[in-house]
Amino acid sequence: MLTGQRIILGVTGGIAAYKTVLLCRLFVKAGASVRVILTEAAKQFVTPVTLQTVTGNQVYDELFIASNRYTVEHVGLAQEADIFIIAPATANTIGKIANGIADNLLTTTIMATTCPILLAPAMNTQMYENPLQKENLAKLSSLGYKIVGPEQGELACGDSGRGRMSSPEDIFTEAVNLLHKDKPWRGRRVLITAGPTQEALDPIRFLTNHSSGKMGYALAEAALELGATVTLVSGPVKLTPPTGVTIISVITAQQMYDAVLACFDNVDVVIKAAAVADYRPATTSEQKMKKSDDDMTLALIRTPDILAQLGQRKQQQLLIGFAAETDNLREHALGKLKQKNLDLIVANDILQEGAGFNVDTNIVRFFFRDGRERQLEKLTKREVAHELLETIDELYTKK
Ligand code: PMT
Repeated sequence: MLTGQRIILGVTGGIAAYKTVLLCRLFVKAGASVRVILTEAAKQFVTPVTLQTVTGNQVYDELFIASNRYTVEHVGLAQEADIFIIAPATANTIGKIANGIADNLLTTTIMATTCPILLAPAMNTQMYENPLQKENLAKLSSLGYKIVGPEQGELACGDSGRGRMSSPEDIFTEAVNLLHKDKPWRGRRVLITAGPTQEALDPIRFLTNHSSGKMGYALAEAALELGATVTLVSGPVKLTPPTGVTIISVITAQQMYDAVLACFDNVDVVIKAAAVADYRPATTSEQKMKKSDDDMTLALIRTPDILAQLGQRKQQQLLIGFAAETDNLREHALGKLKQKNLDLIVANDILQEGAGFNVDTNIVRFFFRDGRERQLEKLTKREVAHELLETIDELYTKK
């Protein structure tokens, strides 16, 4: 999601400095390159070696600059950065920046930067509420600095109130929003479902299918890359959700129904790539079902058809379904498009090699509401995801 993005993370001296290890990991996992500048006080809370290890990059501190011939390297870094974050930002550093004081490596470097700056203040409640501190923060905000947090809660000093640094996840999301502010899908809310559902027979056995979640997760990743706000409702899969999505993990079709319906009113686009069980056992045994010499007949009952339900409730949303077929692909896909009131259905013949379940590629055909069709060649699921989002974008702008 952040491939090629260059981030400078300034860490100042507060207890929350230890959380920057996780923050760095989130950025690195998302593909960004992170350079850390540590103040001397910050080193009391987190070590250069730790941050160097998680970022894979040299950490900049006063010592580094003193021993390095190229003392202006940090200025070059500041000018190349896509975003400059200070987390935690202490009252001291906020005050210095607001008043043009540049007396250490971090405050000097920030003066030389022209990229967006994000501050994550963290301090004791009384310090946060101090009028001088508030004035400094307001001044920076009026100059275009973005502020995330601080949050309300229990503080390291034992007090309770506003002053706790925002979570690494929230800082990450805020940074992504800033980095993506010119992206085409920014502000668009997308709900994606992925993976199978599992319908329990007893504590050990369940009915399910071969969905790996790869198609849905590729869609979530592609939507994030375009700057969308993504909620991913996922059945049980072995994949790691892309950093930056809101993940809702479910197991059964009923749970997926509940999660999707709860989000539906607040989204603009829904893409249902999940392979939802159409039936579940009529009863689920609380104990392991014992075998006997007789054959067994299982009674199955219908699960809710989530997509059909969304089709009935549709307002502003664009509704995209998938159709997994083994025969009469066109006829079945068109039937589902109509019956579920969709804007577009993506059909895959799961018997074709390189298509459908649990492979990295797919071969799909788009069927539109207005009767158009478009066959795509064999592509990676990532490429299919991008093609589909481009197509949805056209539908969206025509609305
Ligand atoms: O996960 P992968 O291994 O990457 O595999 C990808 C995939 C094959 C699962 C994917 O490409 C795909 O085809 N997903 C839809 C599978 C499916 O359940 O198709 P269907 O034809 O049975 O259902 C039609 C549509 O109705 C689907 O969008 C489905 O999510 C939805 N549905 C189905 C049943 C149900 N009870 N509720 C639903 O919302």
